[in-house]
Amino acid sequence: MMINYNHTVFVFLLLSLGIFKLGSCSGNQSQTNNVTVKCIKSEREALVRFKEGVNDIPGKLSSWVGEDCCQWKGVECDNESGHVTMLNLSNPAGRHRHSDYYEIYSRNRPPCANSECSAGLSHRNNICSKRSSYIQRRECRSLLGDVNSSFSRDVNASLSGEITRYLSNLSSLTHLDLEGNYNLSTKNLDWVSSLSSLQKLYMGGVKINHTEADWLHAINMLPSLRVLSLYSCELKHLPSSLTFLNLTSLRVITEAQLMNLTTLEEFVLTTNNKSQPLVFNVKDDWRPPFKLKILHLESCLIGSKFPKWLQVQSELTYVILKSVEINGTIPEEWFSMISYNLTHLDLSNNQINGSLPHQLVFPNVTKLFLQSNLFSGPIPSNISDLMPSLQYLDLSENHLYGKIPLSISKIKKLNILVLRRNNLSGELPDHWNKSQMDLRVVDISYNNIRGKIPSSMGFLGNLSILVLSNNNLSGEIPSSLQSRSIVSMDFGGNRLSGNLPSWIESDIFMLRLRSNLFSGTIPKKWCNLHKLRILDLAQNNLFGGIPDCFNNFNAMVDHNTFGYQHVENYTEKAYIVTKGREYEYDRTLQFVTCIDLSGNSLTGGIPIQITSLTRLGTLNLSMNHLNGRIPKNIGNMRWLETLDLSNNRLFGPIPGSLSSLTSLVHLNLSFNNLTGRIPSGSQLQTLIDTTIYKGNPSLCGSPLPTKCPGDETSDGPSITDVDDKQGGDHYERIWFYANIGLGFGVGFWSVCGTLLLKKSWRHCYFRFCDEIKDRIALLIALRVVHLKRKFGLEKN
Ligand SMILES: *[C@@H]1O[C@H](CO)[C@@H](O)[C@H](O)[C@H]1NC(C)=O
Ligand SMILES: *[C@@H]1O[C@H](CO)[C@@H](O)[C@H](O)[C@H]1NC(C)=O
Ligand SMILES: *[C@@H]1O[C@H](CO)[C@@H](O)[C@H](O)[C@H]1NC(C)=O
Ligand SMILES: *[C@@H]1O[C@H](CO)[C@@H](O)[C@H](O)[C@H]1NC(C)=O
Ligand SMILES: *[C@@H]1O[C@H](CO)[C@@H](O)[C@H](O)[C@H]1NC(C)=O
Ligand SMILES: *[C@@H]1O[C@H](CO)[C@@H](O)[C@H](O)[C@H]1NC(C)=O
Ligand SMILES: *[C@@H]1O[C@H](CO)[C@@H](O)[C@H](O)[C@H]1NC(C)=O
Ligand SMILES: *[C@@H]1O[C@H](CO)[C@@H](O)[C@H](O)[C@H]1NC(C)=O
Ligand SMILES: *[C@@H]1O[C@H](CO)[C@@H](O)[C@H](O)[C@H]1NC(C)=O
Ligand SMILES: *[C@@H]1O[C@H](CO)[C@@H](O)[C@H](O)[C@H]1NC(C)=O
Ligand SMILES: *[C@@H]1O[C@H](CO)[C@@H](O)[C@H](O)[C@H]1NC(C)=O
Ligand SMILES: *[C@@H]1O[C@H](CO)[C@@H](O)[C@H](O)[C@H]1NC(C)=O
Repeated sequence: MMINYNHTVFVFLLLSLGIFKLGSCSGNQSQTNNVTVKCIKSEREALVRFKEGVNDIPGKLSSWVGEDCCQWKGVECDNESGHVTMLNLSNPAGRHRHSDYYEIYSRNRPPCANSECSAGLSHRNNICSKRSSYIQRRECRSLLGDVNSSFSRDVNASLSGEITRYLSNLSSLTHLDLEGNYNLSTKNLDWVSSLSSLQKLYMGGVKINHTEADWLHAINMLPSLRVLSLYSCELKHLPSSLTFLNLTSLRVITEAQLMNLTTLEEFVLTTNNKSQPLVFNVKDDWRPPFKLKILHLESCLIGSKFPKWLQVQSELTYVILKSVEINGTIPEEWFSMISYNLTHLDLSNNQINGSLPHQLVFPNVTKLFLQSNLFSGPIPSNISDLMPSLQYLDLSENHLYGKIPLSISKIKKLNILVLRRNNLSGELPDHWNKSQMDLRVVDISYNNIRGKIPSSMGFLGNLSILVLSNNNLSGEIPSSLQSRSIVSMDFGGNRLSGNLPSWIESDIFMLRLRSNLFSGTIPKKWCNLHKLRILDLAQNNLFGGIPDCFNNFNAMVDHNTFGYQHVENYTEKAYIVTKGREYEYDRTLQFVTCIDLSGNSLTGGIPIQITSLTRLGTLNLSMNHLNGRIPKNIGNMRWLETLDLSNNRLFGPIPGSLSSLTSLVHLNLSFNNLTGRIPSGSQLQTLIDTTIYKGNPSLCGSPLPTKCPGDETSDGPSITDVDDKQGGDHYERIWFYANIGLGFGVGFWSVCGTLLLKKSWRHCYFRFCDEIKDRIALLIALRVVHLKRKFGLEKN
């Protein structure tokens, strides 16, 4: 077995060797001889040295005083011989089994889609780059706060310092558990090699600074070792040949050695370094002696064809072969061999083609992940007979075609069904029933499903997320879907018609009905959708006015009012148009707030209530027939990143408060009948694209080439609020602007000129600005809370 591996930042490797008994233990003597065992002097000294070498901040070693080390916490001795047999100083807070660890790691990724923020995790202090908006910065910060606090909790309970090689004197040690001590390190693993009785070695999280690839050599000296856990040890080198398993020289080898390895049951090899994946390459004719039960290979290369050695693993129950670049087909024989005992199968992110097994029964499989492959053909029509225990089925992003079998609605315990992005056609199955109480997520988006949404879906009493977008569905939304449990409905990109469903209940957080044929008005009843964060009704045939009660959308006022309702284990995906483009959101969807009513025939004015949605990120009312003025206090919506009011019949001035939208990155006011001077200042200064204001013949001022009346004599930037009375004495204004010009000249050059010249001051200044902004926001938040308390306004 060859593992070619040049360089990685994060490797985690957990090899568990199955149980192998080494002779039988002692007889009855110790029960009859009541002699207090005393610990052996040399071993006590070894422990004392160990204690001296580490920094015992959690106080784990406080009991390590006195002569008898067998009484010390974390130490266990043999009753007879007095030898130390177990040393357990693990840190439960930092102890994550491989899957948990990965879960936690991935769940806590920063919420911002752009790379600016992702970089934040690695540089904990320098959260986001300056360009990213304030919102994202705040979110990153709070989220990282969570990560950091759990991280620091782990770290605080961790021993720090270096493991001394004196531990090698504990020659009778059978269990050594230092897992989860993220601040503990060791120069190499050589000291382990003398622990010849060692059966279990847990070192997960301990930094092993073994510069050579031969660390496995030390491990290989341990004949009784059954469990080895080295995840997240920051091992930089893997040996070029995994001699430990001694698989390269098949010709595993004396009988005895072969026998020993037959008990290998669990094999985990993953890396998260996609750019330099591990290569796990074995000879084609290799026949491993062991029968694995658990196999987890992720982001490593195992050869492009489905490996032969895997085809003889007949006792597998839990299989993850994710992102291992398998292409070709999965041999039917392998499936049939493992089908009976299989409980979890994840072959996602490969290039596997061929059809799904249509005859094999997988009685115990609960989770089947085949997404992002090249599977084709239909879904087995009798899937509920083949896989009666399914809870989680993800077949998304394949080339499956044909109908969705009726049988799928008969899988009793089905919890999550994801068929997104296939070529499925026909109608949705219409035999959903009350017995499917567990079904919470159905995502059949991006297929060719036609017909109506079956009203029997209303029987699914716990359905939370229903995604049917980008199909060919028609008809009305059945009112049977009226259910408090639904938190997200995405029917965008179909041909659904009729009135908007006024019966929607108040738990919904996303309602996406864009690009359909809905007509009628926006129901007033929606005003009590307090938890709504995403309302996307764009490109329909809606008419009438925008209800004047949008200020009731509490989740768009205060993001923290209602926690985002997670459907366990499932990350919803949705496409949201923001900043002038369509973006795919998944993990970050919970941070999106958006109202998109564009491309309808809405009339009337923009209700001023909308300006109280201070936490709204995207407001798109473009391409309607709205008239009236832009609400004066639009500047209240300080989280607004996207504001599109283009192609309406808005008139009057652009409110000066627009310049206080410091997060604004996309603005479009074109093709209206706006008049007067374009306000300037802060963020607006960066939006210099003249198309923002195009098609408003009476607008003037920067960035348009049209000068405002009275501007000819002054070059200085204007700070006038256009809401102010226009007109007035001409001379007075000339004086006014001249003074401003002078003031600006002096002020600008005395501050900025200095900053321009003096680098260190410049840095200091901008850092100050950056901090002060946060501080002000914090201050305001604190004040508000304070006042609320004072007046007893705070609920609960
Ligand atoms: C242990 O002692 C009990 C009686 O005290 C005896 O029956 C048993 O056989 C002994 N076991 C061994 C292994 O000597
Ligand atoms: C050793 O001592 C512990 C505690 O005194 C006891 O629970 C255990 O059974 C003993 N083991 C043997 C083999 O006598
Ligand atoms: C062993 O002896 C100690 C005193 O030397 C006594 O306290 C203890 O109860 C005895 N234990 C047993 C199991 O006889
Ligand atoms: C060490 O102790 C922890 C509990 O503190 C336990 O979970 C773990 O299994 C122990 N390790 C060994 C090797 O027994
Ligand atoms: C790891 O070893 C290298 C080379 O011996 C050394 O430069 C580095 O400081 C060590 N790191 C730690 C954390 O001990
Ligand atoms: C295999 O097991 C035997 C005991 O049955 C032991 O003596 C031998 O050292 C083991 N070999 C290896 C390579 O672990
Ligand atoms: C691997 O097997 C070869 C051949 O049987 C043997 O010479 C060698 O010592 C083994 N290596 C280890 C580390 O056990
Ligand atoms: C299923 O597992 C049982 C026990 O774990 C085993 O006896 C049986 O052979 C396995 N079946 C297959 C088809 O591997
Ligand atoms: C695997 O797929 C890649 C690209 O999709 C192709 O170049 C390669 O030939 C394929 N290998 C096999 C064995 O099919
Ligand atoms: C698999 O399912 C069968 C029948 O449903 C059951 O008897 C058996 O115990 C299950 N096996 C496992 C490993 O769960
Ligand atoms: C969801 O996660 C929980 C806890 O991690 C687990 O118990 C449950 O089986 C999972 N459900 C599904 C359908 O994956
Ligand atoms: C634009 O507004 C002006 C007055 O403010 C009005 O005279 C003109 O008719 C309006 N144009 C359009 C196209 O509505």
